[in-house]
Amino acid sequence: MCGIVGYTGSGAKQAAPILLDSLSKLEYRGYDSAGMAVYDDETKSIQFQKTVGRLKGLYDRTHGGADLKGTCGIGHTRWATHGEPTEVNAHPHLNSKQTIAVVHNGIIENYLRWRKRLQDKGYIFKSDTDTEVIVQMLDYYYDGDPLKTITTVMQRLEGSYALGILFSDHAGEIYAARKDSPLIVGKADDAAFIASDVPAILSYTRNVYYMENEEVARLTPGAVEFFNIDEEPVQKEAVTVSWDIHAAEKGGYEYFMLKEIHEEPKAVSDTLNPRIRDGHVVIDELNMTDEEIRGIHKLFIVACGSAYHAGVTGKYVMEGLARIPVEVDIASEFRYRDPIIEEGDYVIIISQSGETADSLAALREAKKRGARTLGIINVVGSSIAREADNVMYTWAGPEIAVATTKAYQTQLIAMYLLSIRFAKARGKIDDAQEKALIDDLKALPEQIRMQLASKADIQKFANRYLAAEHVFFIGRGIDYAISLEGSLKLKEISYVHSEAYPAGELKHGTISLIEDGRLVVAVLTQPNLIKKEISNIVEVKSRGAFVMAVTTVGNTEVEKTADYVVYVPKTNPYFVNSLAVVPLQLFGYYVAIGRGLDVDKPRNLAKSVTVE
Ligand code: AGP
Repeated sequence: MCGIVGYTGSGAKQAAPILLDSLSKLEYRGYDSAGMAVYDDETKSIQFQKTVGRLKGLYDRTHGGADLKGTCGIGHTRWATHGEPTEVNAHPHLNSKQTIAVVHNGIIENYLRWRKRLQDKGYIFKSDTDTEVIVQMLDYYYDGDPLKTITTVMQRLEGSYALGILFSDHAGEIYAARKDSPLIVGKADDAAFIASDVPAILSYTRNVYYMENEEVARLTPGAVEFFNIDEEPVQKEAVTVSWDIHAAEKGGYEYFMLKEIHEEPKAVSDTLNPRIRDGHVVIDELNMTDEEIRGIHKLFIVACGSAYHAGVTGKYVMEGLARIPVEVDIASEFRYRDPIIEEGDYVIIISQSGETADSLAALREAKKRGARTLGIINVVGSSIAREADNVMYTWAGPEIAVATTKAYQTQLIAMYLLSIRFAKARGKIDDAQEKALIDDLKALPEQIRMQLASKADIQKFANRYLAAEHVFFIGRGIDYAISLEGSLKLKEISYVHSEAYPAGELKHGTISLIEDGRLVVAVLTQPNLIKKEISNIVEVKSRGAFVMAVTTVGNTEVEKTADYVVYVPKTNPYFVNSLAVVPLQLFGYYVAIGRGLDVDKPRNLAKSVTVE
């Protein structure tokens, strides 16, 4: 996700070189453009510079920051969410008079409404971003009092934001505001800082204030003040950060993978919330009418690896809710099997990176055969995003660990939303059913968060299987899709051989591999299949297996057969993958940790497989 920095200091120290250095400590967060704005004491104006691509471009363009003179400024590295990675869309964003500059991390969910309102009042927008709406709103409400203006705008914004703001008539001051996106304030003797994350300022100060939701900060070289959204002063205690720079990049987690698992609740919220409006699922990016959706005869979902597993779940949910036939393909198979695509077929390509060669080739094959195509993509402006007819972005933010976790979760969310939207358009569900489904979706982030609280139990269990050679995952229906992902997570980071099987299929050969002590992970969350799955547990138990079961709270009968039971919260059976996958991600993570492996960079693997 985006990186924000800010510096204001007394004396001769120039802000721009410090901003560049601080931004360089946030590069690990992933970005596709960068920029900074500095208050120039001589011209009494805000000067700024932006660039697409790497931070080095900004460094070169400003001669190491020398071209931007001044002791107070803000900087930004952008991970594109709304609007392609271009110079115009890069931050900072300024009002037309260039008297206010803003850098932003987060997603403004009601930005379209405010963009329209301000355009009706004569405002001209230059970029496609949600962020530009913020600076124009600040301009619209500005009465010379930054604090009052900022809180006025905060009361109208919906979504998540961490903001750094300069006002040209308040020299030397930086304002910051926060809701749901992280933001810290640093204090040194003669300077103050803002940053999205600790690494940015560790070399300048370890004296840090963590901003809370709906708080505003005012920074001057000698002081930092905090206020609540009612403009009342807030007393905050500084924290002394003891981390080293590498630990800080991972937010104190040992590996990015664990950090990203913990980011799943926010990734799910960020992908879900902007597409739920007035109690309905609204997916503007589809650019399809209800009639066009009703005209779809068949859906193909094409992807690789974990994205394919999300597609397998998508098949069950889409067919269950919208009653559209769905064919799920592994992209490297789809592209060479001369697929039968006819008028009215719709092909969905799921890809975190948007650069997977097989998935890109499958997209081109589908288009060549006349299908309408949709990309469910995490990286804005990636090849698949650009070439698909329409793109539905997942807003997981940058995923650094090779093994996907939070991005996979957002791919599931995208499939759930599509299925509900298609089911409604085809008259398969009514308003009440849609509302019930949406209520269950809205509960998922907190339920995922609850799951994370039990990670110590998973770690303890994982430590018993560090020497395992073979692990089998079994399930039926959506539980099979969950098993596929659980198996891949384990083998790709711990190098323990693992296979996922439809539970009913085991007896057709593979059960010959079950012997004393063999670990079998059984996923049982589908009410109509649990009894069948319990009989599959009995089958493997009778051949000596040790069974870890993942099931929904209340299914205590599983305890009569399984050896170790992990419970996940109740939700609609269509959505349970989002909860059941969490203990399986953690299981794979802790087995890999226990085996002393580099979890973030497993051998032989790349984050994006851009070759055949
Ligand atoms: C998942 O943990 C793996 N890293 C891999 O299977 C990945 O899902 C697959 O390569 C697809 O990548 P994409 O989503 O970027 O297309």
